[in-house]
Amino acid sequence: MLFDLNQLIRPNIAKLTAYSSARDEFSGEAKVFLDANENSLGSPLSKWYNRYPDPHQQAVKEKIAFVKQLPAEHIFLGNGSDECIDLLYRCFCEPGKDNAIICPPTYGMYEVSANINDVAVKKVPLLNNFQLDLVHLENAVDAHTKLIWICSPNNPTGNSLDRMDIETVLNNFNGIVVIDEAYINFAQQKSFVQELADYPNLVILQTFSKAWGLAGLRLGMAFASTAIIDVMNKVKPPYNINQATQELALKALDEIGQVNDMIKLLVDMREALAEVFRSMPTVEQVYPSDANFILVKIRDARKVYAFLLTRGIVLRDRSNVKLCEDCLRITVGTEQDNTLLVDAMHEWYQLNP
Ligand SMILES: Cc1ncc(COP(=O)(O)O)c(C=O)c1O
Repeated sequence: MLFDLNQLIRPNIAKLTAYSSARDEFSGEAKVFLDANENSLGSPLSKWYNRYPDPHQQAVKEKIAFVKQLPAEHIFLGNGSDECIDLLYRCFCEPGKDNAIICPPTYGMYEVSANINDVAVKKVPLLNNFQLDLVHLENAVDAHTKLIWICSPNNPTGNSLDRMDIETVLNNFNGIVVIDEAYINFAQQKSFVQELADYPNLVILQTFSKAWGLAGLRLGMAFASTAIIDVMNKVKPPYNINQATQELALKALDEIGQVNDMIKLLVDMREALAEVFRSMPTVEQVYPSDANFILVKIRDARKVYAFLLTRGIVLRDRSNVKLCEDCLRITVGTEQDNTLLVDAMHEWYQLNP
């Protein structure tokens, strides 16, 4: 494989001089900070939030590095993985010229972000078994293809993609392969994080929004070669991860034991919920899931969805998505949420015998 990162970076980004923040230009011990036009008197909310946060999020990265067992220089932090997705387009795809490949049905932001950045999207649908279509994938790549998005475990189908298929893409594509592992903690498959050294074209996305239970904080991670991370750092807004998020992430990272217990519990609850749905009369299929949700193929999916709304229960209607016809995506809830859902389903069957 002929991978040359310099050929992939947009010329304006390669030439870019990154913004240098007040705190970038100083290192060492200071008595007073009069360099960043903050409000030195503090704030009515808390005296601590008047200062800009660390633009490099060094402390958070070091803890993540310890948990993930890789050097901190291989970590980029975004305002959710959604920011990482957008940044990858802005770093590598020339608007109106380059393209990216997505494999639908998959996470919607790969396409939305491409549209925002005026980057063409080539769609290579998954096969009927929700695995990669390697033949069509190879055919879809052209001289302007910069990114291939692989979501594993995939949203909304819930399955992990075959590891050897992913390796085939990594070994044969000269552009950047992004593996979105938002749901990896719920999966049987192991992460690609330990494979970074083998693949200079690999970017892995993970997030605090799922297993860590911190969707409200907005903290996403990208893992890649230092060369790729350097490009992303150049383009990001200086203070993209706020102070409160950095503080709370540091606390959460100390509680990995509790997080692991929660993951186990969610996986057990997922399997229990899947079993209940499998026994329902109009359910045609509950797809195996490696995530914290299940995809259920059910007769009259739209009507079921609308009925559950009348009972205050919101699912994700995927019934108009190709390959997910008649499917509802159901996030594993609390015991109480799941009971309410199952009770409402029984009511549906009483009303629609
Ligand atoms: C596959 C996938 N990637 C990324 C995201 C977004 O994650 P974040 O909350 O970190 O922006 C989601 C959210 O549902 C997702 O399903």
